[in-house]
Amino acid sequence: MANTATNPIPQFPAGFLWGVSTSAHQIEGAADKRAPSVWDAFTAEPGHIKDNSTAAVACDHYHRYPEDVALLRDLGVDAYRFSISWPRVNSPGGLDFYDRLVDELTAAGVRAVPTLFHWDLPVSVEEAGGWLNRDTAERFAEYAALVADRLGDRISKWITLNEPAEHTLLGHALGAHAPGKQLLFDALPVAHHQLLGHGLAVRALRAAGVTDIGIANSHGPTWPASQEPEDLEAAAFYDLLLNRLFADPVLTGQYPEGLGELMPGDVEADLKVIAEPIDWYGINYYAPTRVGAPQGSEIEFGGLTMPAELPFSVREIDGYPVTDFGWPVVPHALTELLVDFHKRYGDRLPPIVITENGCSYEGLDDQDRITYLDGHLRALHRALEQGVDVRGYFVWSLLDNFEWAEGYARRFGLVHVDFKTLTRTPKASYAWLRAAIQSQR
Ligand code: NOJ
Repeated sequence: MANTATNPIPQFPAGFLWGVSTSAHQIEGAADKRAPSVWDAFTAEPGHIKDNSTAAVACDHYHRYPEDVALLRDLGVDAYRFSISWPRVNSPGGLDFYDRLVDELTAAGVRAVPTLFHWDLPVSVEEAGGWLNRDTAERFAEYAALVADRLGDRISKWITLNEPAEHTLLGHALGAHAPGKQLLFDALPVAHHQLLGHGLAVRALRAAGVTDIGIANSHGPTWPASQEPEDLEAAAFYDLLLNRLFADPVLTGQYPEGLGELMPGDVEADLKVIAEPIDWYGINYYAPTRVGAPQGSEIEFGGLTMPAELPFSVREIDGYPVTDFGWPVVPHALTELLVDFHKRYGDRLPPIVITENGCSYEGLDDQDRITYLDGHLRALHRALEQGVDVRGYFVWSLLDNFEWAEGYARRFGLVHVDFKTLTRTPKASYAWLRAAIQSQR
């Protein structure tokens, strides 16, 4: 791939929001100062985390947040997307931490963009049935209201859920993430209850007087393995799960064909809640997926075991560079995704914000990360030129952190973290992004 990273990136519209993202469980540590989450329980069972690590300390952001906010300020970002840990909010003094963090951000001139649920469900809520239980949607909205009452006066943008698709698939269908359930299609209620929780939380947040509410869904183009009917059918189904199951209900008030019947409860009534209007739509994009017909046996892909019963199989994408995680680097697929999304939802689509985009590479002189970010910003700009209304871009992630089942082995940060000393060292990509943002001023 030609390295265009030395040329300035194209000019984005005035007011475009530049940011970086993290999540509570992946960076905070201070697990002793909060109630446990499903991720603590999952991590404690041997065999779940590749390097046998835990997030008990992680980046120790809980204690080192002033240093991290200084890194954000020096990077020159407009906004910081972080997540609020529900089990911490349930613990004495938990909200005080977010109060301090938001004050520190405000003083540094960085807008606070919290996500209310980034996969760390309190164990107490899981024990009551977790997302398989409809009540969890209600509990989530109550928690959202509590946070809004405390922080609402200083928050810029709100995000209800992070990647409910991955939380359903990895956490409840395949069991590779917490809470480790392997329910395959019996996990669909988890999708419905998260969506319902989203809609109820939007209502609760509005009732608390806050505005500028969105959701962060993961999307990416699905490329069929061939033009054979079996491959096209399998790819279309995968596309439905990844690109429509969590978008259609929110944006159109309908489930994609055939899926509504599989959901629990009074689905029609719930869809009215789920489709509560939002102010913007967040997309996390990393890579496209190549999908073909099932191969008749269990397959290993990207560290996941995919059971033979699935009606599709995920294949390698050839012909592109890959990150250290093995994910293909395909910037033009971001343009493709956004243009398709815009066509599919038309006027129902509010402004888009890219709430995550990034890559895992080793090393401080991370030229590959610069090439990745540069390529994706150009691809994003091409989508804008084609009429897609995108208002912001957040890099995943500010810091190297606890990459879920991969532990600390995958480094997504603009800032290197030495997990022994917890020293932060900005990488080459940090300086590159700072210059790119400055070039927009
Ligand atoms: C999406 C998730 O939201 C985030 O938690 C994760 O670390 C990144 N993707 C990278 O896998």
